[in-house]
Amino acid sequence: MHIFTAVRFKLPFIFILSCILFHVVNGQTSTNIKQLYTDIFTSHQKSVIPNFNFSQPLEITVKLFLLTITRFDEVDETLDTGVAIQTTWNDDGISWKPSSYGNAESIVVPHTDIWTPKLVLLNSIETYEPLGGDNDLLGTVRHNGSSTIIVGDVLSSKCTPNIYKFPFDSQTCQLLFVVWGSTINDIHLKADPDPVDINFFKPNSDWTLQSYQGETYLWHGYDVFEISLTIKRAPLYYNIVVSCPTILFGLSNPLVFLLPVESGERVGLSITVLLSYAIFLTIVQMAVPASSNPMSLLLVFMIVTIALSGIIVAVAIYISSLYYRDPQSKMNNILKYIGSRRHGIKRLIAVDPESETIEKGNVKYSTEMNITWKDVCDELDTCMMVISYCIITFIICLYFIIVSV
Ligand SMILES: *[C@@H]1O[C@H](CO)[C@@H](O)[C@H](O)[C@H]1NC(C)=O
Ligand SMILES: *[C@@H]1O[C@H](CO)[C@@H](O)[C@H](O)[C@H]1NC(C)=O
Repeated sequence: MHIFTAVRFKLPFIFILSCILFHVVNGQTSTNIKQLYTDIFTSHQKSVIPNFNFSQPLEITVKLFLLTITRFDEVDETLDTGVAIQTTWNDDGISWKPSSYGNAESIVVPHTDIWTPKLVLLNSIETYEPLGGDNDLLGTVRHNGSSTIIVGDVLSSKCTPNIYKFPFDSQTCQLLFVVWGSTINDIHLKADPDPVDINFFKPNSDWTLQSYQGETYLWHGYDVFEISLTIKRAPLYYNIVVSCPTILFGLSNPLVFLLPVESGERVGLSITVLLSYAIFLTIVQMAVPASSNPMSLLLVFMIVTIALSGIIVAVAIYISSLYYRDPQSKMNNILKYIGSRRHGIKRLIAVDPESETIEKGNVKYSTEMNITWKDVCDELDTCMMVISYCIITFIICLYFIIVSV
């Protein structure tokens, strides 16, 4: 019944429901209730903390109902949640005999008629306002003075994200509540045995609630009610929009080396791949949270891919320049070795069927003189394609391994 009497009064159906419940549960006449209200609240003192023994703080039991997780913003570092907090305490100024009022055990009254604790979100990014703000709320008071009120609000709290594993990240955020201005001498907060209730929780499509807990502790002379929420991001959107194209770019880039130098297109193609990836990067940059502490691994992955693409352009240009070099110009030893490997393999394959006794050394020696720049380029192309595929596969695997541990 409590949750219905206290969640925002604005919703008419909840109000009507609360009236119906009120009558069903109690069963006394409205005259009884009016009489009770007049007797109790005409001279009720509600400005002072309703404590019986002021050598001890008033004990308030707190319980949070998590209603929604509206938004998590990595850039603004905020978490928007819809919550309701139930507070229960003992109002020493109120008590009556139920038998004198048609067995009325409790009464629902406007919160302005009784003393209520003013809970404030300590890590709010907006103003410090008591929860519930200016809403008209209802409190329930029992015949022995036990009082309950539920306040609800949509809160924006500060939450520093850790986007290292974005989009496979999960974030832990805290909501810190205090009774503004009341030290531990006046008010002691006690967490309910079940401090966080998610029966009224509406799931968010982008974030799943992984775990939650609530506790109270003493903090610089004040009792704080702390809620920890761990939420996990649904990574599908970012995988499709960001990771998949990046992997595709990475895998298609080394194909540049498959294109013959004579076609004259290969430098153009490699620059096209680099440019289109750069444009893609500027578009998806909006989707990847910008933060340098720590930086998102996905962004590092993308930048390594683009750097590799740049290196591939440089190598493609270099190989093309080798290809058109003057056949008479001198070849250095490394290139000569690379070219001879190509030559050697070709020759061996050609020679092998004829005679199996030909020694490798002789073949190499006899062909060394005929190494052309084309041989060097062909061999370099094969090597570079294999090497770049190895590097790209390694980077992709590394990314997914780091992200999944
Ligand atoms: C008030 O609390 C103090 C400390 O616990 C205790 O010593 C004292 O007896 C209490 N007074 C009354 C009237 O209960
Ligand atoms: C008042 O009554 C309620 C329900 O009967 C009970 O849970 C609560 O502990 C009582 N409070 C006191 C101070 O006796």
